[in-house]
Amino acid sequence: MKKVYLETFGCQMNVSDSERVATSLAASGFEITSIQDSADIVLINTCSVREKAEQKLYNTVGEIRNSRLVKPVVGVMGCVAQLEGETLFKKIAGIDFVVGTRAVGRVVHAIEKVYDGVEQVSDLGERENDYDWSVNDAQRHSPYVAFVPIIEGCNKFCTYCIVPFSRGREVSLPASTIVRHVLELRRQGAKEIHLIGQNVNSYRPKTDSGMELFHGATPFSRLLRAVAATGIERIKFNTSFPRDFHPDIIDAINENENLCNWVHLPVQSGSDRVLKRMKRGHTIDSYFKKIDKLKDSARDVALTTDIIVGFPGETEADFEDTKRAVEYCGFDMAYIFKYSPRPGTPAFEMEDDVTLGEKKLRFIELERVQKESQNKRLQRYLGKKVEVLAERVSSRSADDITGHSTCHKLVNFQGSKDLIGKLVDVRIREIKSNSLFGEVC
Ligand code: SAH
Ligand code: SF4
Ligand code: F3S
Repeated sequence: MKKVYLETFGCQMNVSDSERVATSLAASGFEITSIQDSADIVLINTCSVREKAEQKLYNTVGEIRNSRLVKPVVGVMGCVAQLEGETLFKKIAGIDFVVGTRAVGRVVHAIEKVYDGVEQVSDLGERENDYDWSVNDAQRHSPYVAFVPIIEGCNKFCTYCIVPFSRGREVSLPASTIVRHVLELRRQGAKEIHLIGQNVNSYRPKTDSGMELFHGATPFSRLLRAVAATGIERIKFNTSFPRDFHPDIIDAINENENLCNWVHLPVQSGSDRVLKRMKRGHTIDSYFKKIDKLKDSARDVALTTDIIVGFPGETEADFEDTKRAVEYCGFDMAYIFKYSPRPGTPAFEMEDDVTLGEKKLRFIELERVQKESQNKRLQRYLGKKVEVLAERVSSRSADDITGHSTCHKLVNFQGSKDLIGKLVDVRIREIKSNSLFGEVC
């Protein structure tokens, strides 16, 4: 039995693709191993959203070349594979096959070709119509949590972003397929599902089969209600695109207990001038209006975000606007990134005029502002009871269990292994920088 080691970089879409690839490999008689050294095949699922992410591919292949006496079969899939295609064979020595983002269903095919003696196998073709979206229980990152893709690709073309090029245009899955998938996961024992996509709230299926049964102002809020009606314990979704974030989504959350208290809504910048140059399609005021409604909602919905510092042309005044926006919004968490020019994107043609030193300073300063605001904001959980899905024994202490709350916080608490897979009420006793600590109530 050939052993495959699968390394995954990048976002939830890559994690989800890797899970499906692992499922199809296992079904074809391969063994998935967590030990790279003894694997016959090393498969790297790549990300190209920032230069650093792309560099991870080069480092990983280099390490394999230097550390192994017998070179394994090396395959590259994901966003770098899609963008670079066959040029990867020239750029990095030691790669045997390249599989694009739409060809993930044919990884086994590519491996078979390599074993048949074909050199430099590449498949950047389109996805089959009857593509299998299911993931075997054993190949998921958790038996209790499952990613369910609802929309693939991106049509937004924010000027800094490579994703529309690496993932192609938006394609929504039929609602009936999604609902069937969730029902099946529920039957298998999954407690929490994440509806995933680059922009979940741009969901727009070709046929709305069965969706007319559900009210909602947009196809996405109808889908949320349809998925809520499956009775699965918890539903989360990400990422949301601010321009398409209809207030009805908040109504759907308020109406359905199983829609969780968490929205990830990347603001990117607090300056209208920068947002315009980013082509985000929202102004800072329109963003504030949306989160005001979120804050006014009966449920305590946690808001998280992504922010880029040092976008071309970002002045000190623009950066001050971003700091103010962070203070106003009160994010429970923010992922902050230094702008990284991506060849092929419109922003690549703009002058990258904020120096690396300045980007670093703005990054540190914004992190400070966010941490300060976050520390204050998270105090509201102190003494509160939160529902946690117990996922595993903590890596820090064998007496502790780790899981996520409905507001998507990492929560540790003292408890026995028997709780794993259950929803547990935990009273929060301590706020740490990236997690909460509590006790079973
Ligand atoms: N679809 C989501 C997220 C896509 S990528 C959205 O629209 O928000 C995840 C995050 O990476 C983005 O939100 C952005 O903050 C960051 N990002 C994307 N391209 C980048 C670049 N060229 N440089 C730095 N950060 C980038
Ligand atoms: Fe990239 Fe913008 Fe699409 Fe998000 S919405 S994936 S940032 S182009
Ligand atoms: Fe990276 Fe591709 Fe996701 S570029 S962020 S893995 S869509």
